[in-house]
Amino acid sequence: MISALRESSHTTVLTGSGISAESGVPTFREAQTGLWARFDPKELATPEAFDRDPALVWDWYAWRRKLVAEARPNPGHLAIAEMQRLVPNVTLVTQNVDGLHQLAGSREVIELHGNIRRTKCAAEDTRVDVFEDGESPPICPSCGAPLRPDVVWFGEMLPLGALEAASMAARGADLLLSVGTSNLVYPAAGLPIEALDNGATVVEINPSETPLTPHADYALRGQAGDVLPRLIGELS
Ligand code: OAD
Repeated sequence: MISALRESSHTTVLTGSGISAESGVPTFREAQTGLWARFDPKELATPEAFDRDPALVWDWYAWRRKLVAEARPNPGHLAIAEMQRLVPNVTLVTQNVDGLHQLAGSREVIELHGNIRRTKCAAEDTRVDVFEDGESPPICPSCGAPLRPDVVWFGEMLPLGALEAASMAARGADLLLSVGTSNLVYPAAGLPIEALDNGATVVEINPSETPLTPHADYALRGQAGDVLPRLIGELS
């Protein structure tokens, strides 16, 4: 496995919420602690939910934004940033909206599901950086429509550029690491399969089994914050 990383000329890393778990950011589907175990995504993470009750949706995301603002990158995020310095040509694709990879020093992160730290106009779909944060939701300073988090909701398209870049990175990789994702949500879950179909070695890093496990060349059972620094340690 280490030799695959040493010899790789293009490595793609796909991350999910599990990599941020050790930073205190909740995952989605884990029993008890996962967000979707405690909240109904249909009431909070769809365009219909926002149309029905924009204040509820805005306030829920404001709570999550606060959690994320208090979180710091953990050894897993830092190891990926280090890997990008040590190994040539490492593309990082994330399903996470927390921005912790960037805080860890990773650059050019392909964000498939947006970023909760950003806000956009619900009508114009344009990013809005400066607005009065009094009302819930706040109002777009240019058109008066409600503002919403710049994340992908159920039933929405992924940002096309990000999806194309991610798919290209998966198809062009000779090694793909799937880290901290349940591999249940498409199209992200299709990326390791695209990599496998194109002859890549696929490595999963996760304490639990996922639908990818039987297809992966290696399944490293453990927490990202333990496993990734050990991998990097083997490199130098
Ligand atoms: P899930 O909650 O579905 O899966 C989290 C995965 O992380 C599980 O497989 C856990 O076993 C694993 N895990 C937990 N702790 C870990 C650790 N310390 N190290 C490594 N792995 C760990 O979260 P995602 O796969 O990210 O979409 O979910 C995908 C998408 O579904 C999210 O981006 C979100 C959600 O609905 C949107 O919001 C659009």
